[in-house]
Amino acid sequence: MSPHADDAPPPAETPTAGHPTPVPARREPGWWRDAVVYQVYPRSFADSDGDGVGDIPGITAHLDHLADLGVDVLWLSPVYRSPMDDNGYDISDYEDVDPLFGTLADLDALIEGCHAHGIRVVMDLVVNHTSDEHPWFVEARDPASPKRDWYWWRPPREGHAAGTPGAEPTNWGAAFSGPAWHLDPHSGEYYLHLFSPKQPDLNWENPEVRSAVYAMMRRWVDRGVDGFRMDVINLISKDVSLPDAPQGPGQPYGSSFDLVANGPRLDEYLAEMNREVGLTDQHLLTVGEMPGSTIDVARRVTDEGRRELDMVFTFEHVDLDVAPGGVKWDLADVPLPVLKRSLERWQVGLADVGWNSLYWNNHDQPRVVSRFGDDSPEHRVASAKTLGTVLHLHRGTPYVYQGEELGMANAGFETLEQYRDIESVNYHAEATSLGLAAETVTRSLAVKSRDNARTPMQWDDTASAGFTTGTPWLAVNPDHVDVNAAAARRDPQSVFAHYRALIALRHSDECVVDGRFELLLPDHEQLWVFTRTLGDERLLVLANCSSEAVTVDPSDVPDVVGAEVLLATHDGRTGLDLAPWESRVLRLA
Ligand code: NOJ
Repeated sequence: MSPHADDAPPPAETPTAGHPTPVPARREPGWWRDAVVYQVYPRSFADSDGDGVGDIPGITAHLDHLADLGVDVLWLSPVYRSPMDDNGYDISDYEDVDPLFGTLADLDALIEGCHAHGIRVVMDLVVNHTSDEHPWFVEARDPASPKRDWYWWRPPREGHAAGTPGAEPTNWGAAFSGPAWHLDPHSGEYYLHLFSPKQPDLNWENPEVRSAVYAMMRRWVDRGVDGFRMDVINLISKDVSLPDAPQGPGQPYGSSFDLVANGPRLDEYLAEMNREVGLTDQHLLTVGEMPGSTIDVARRVTDEGRRELDMVFTFEHVDLDVAPGGVKWDLADVPLPVLKRSLERWQVGLADVGWNSLYWNNHDQPRVVSRFGDDSPEHRVASAKTLGTVLHLHRGTPYVYQGEELGMANAGFETLEQYRDIESVNYHAEATSLGLAAETVTRSLAVKSRDNARTPMQWDDTASAGFTTGTPWLAVNPDHVDVNAAAARRDPQSVFAHYRALIALRHSDECVVDGRFELLLPDHEQLWVFTRTLGDERLLVLANCSSEAVTVDPSDVPDVVGAEVLLATHDGRTGLDLAPWESRVLRLA
């Protein structure tokens, strides 16, 4: 067995043309299986009018960036009318655009522009809850209203006066701190909000709610969108008896998660939605955000025959850096074998039924290069590329979050005042009031806050990174002088060039799309090695996921004699010695 791949240098990562042609009007069944999705968080992408907040015309002006990268789909985080308590995930009108982001005409132009650039558009669908300023909720506040039952209303706990401590109908905590119930003085009853008090949960038990949601979705399909990313969709079916939840010692609230996630009617609702909107019939892309979903749940929900969803976002791999029994802010290291095995379980678990989504980043997660890579100047580029290699060579539909293709790193905020995110700000207040040291809290925020993902997109090395001519709503990362799209697009060795090559490889190689996955060396602490096999084609991925050099033992991997290097992070290197964060994709002879 030779330690050397063939002697030919790996192909240079030179730019290839993006999508030259518009998308076909007709969507083919399963078109999303070889697609790559790019997520835009509008507030942080590009500001066209100088108010410091990104907007829709800003996105339209940058479609060349997406087309050059070669992505197939744009997932647009919410641009709907919203009081912006949770940056648009609190929607007060599902069918209009918030003036902060532009107009419906701007959105139509964006959809048209995407389609002309060969990019399909997936809208965010946030229907577990509305804003408390949505007309449905405004009406529902009146106990006599026909819409009262569209939300979850309950009287105070028996024997407690409304508004007194412990009077909430259950002991549940909300995701953004505090109790999950808010007293409405109008009726003296509480309403349920699993997120902020400005995000009341819709009652999906009520068929009128479901019909109204489906009708709204149909109108978006008629407007030309190609699918939906469904926000916390596995929370729509809850345990209707609303019991108290287990509450750990010293915990201010009980954790309702098991009572509200993956509830008894979830499959029924998803299948009904699919049928009523024609999701599968029209080959729309559907991806459900499903925290706490297991492989069994994902298999069921994405089983084609059941016509529910195409894929789900699991949280298993992004929950690994939580200390046992803790919450997201209780930090823990993730040994590489644990991360590898998690992704492997999902690869194997959904090999015969269903389909995986693949992601490192989104607007809720810290930046992957800081989280699982090494964001020091020495290793940032190579580790961002290698994490990209590993993810994109798994089986499933990869999602790229804005700036990931540049290797953008965490924000580096040091003080509370730098944060804007409701979850982060509320957590700081609650944790410090319970006696946690402020330094411990700010350390957790620096590692885990959602604002790490939300610093403005870094277009160039000018003062506000080319994001805005005004004052950005959230500070720009000072590293934009080096890490920016203009520099990356000029540099054939950049993270951008590497992501482009990964995306092109998926488009050209069926084995990347459909090959059977097999993890090798599961317990190795530096190497992430796996094969993909389809018919006679076999790919071998060798990745050094550490900041120290490593040599692959030739007896541990298939014979690489005569293998073709399809993609590599480091030019002109062959053999089984891997530099820090070096990775290669080989097609075995
Ligand atoms: C998940 C979204 O991704 C997150 O940003 C939001 O805060 C919650 N759902 C509530 O909508």
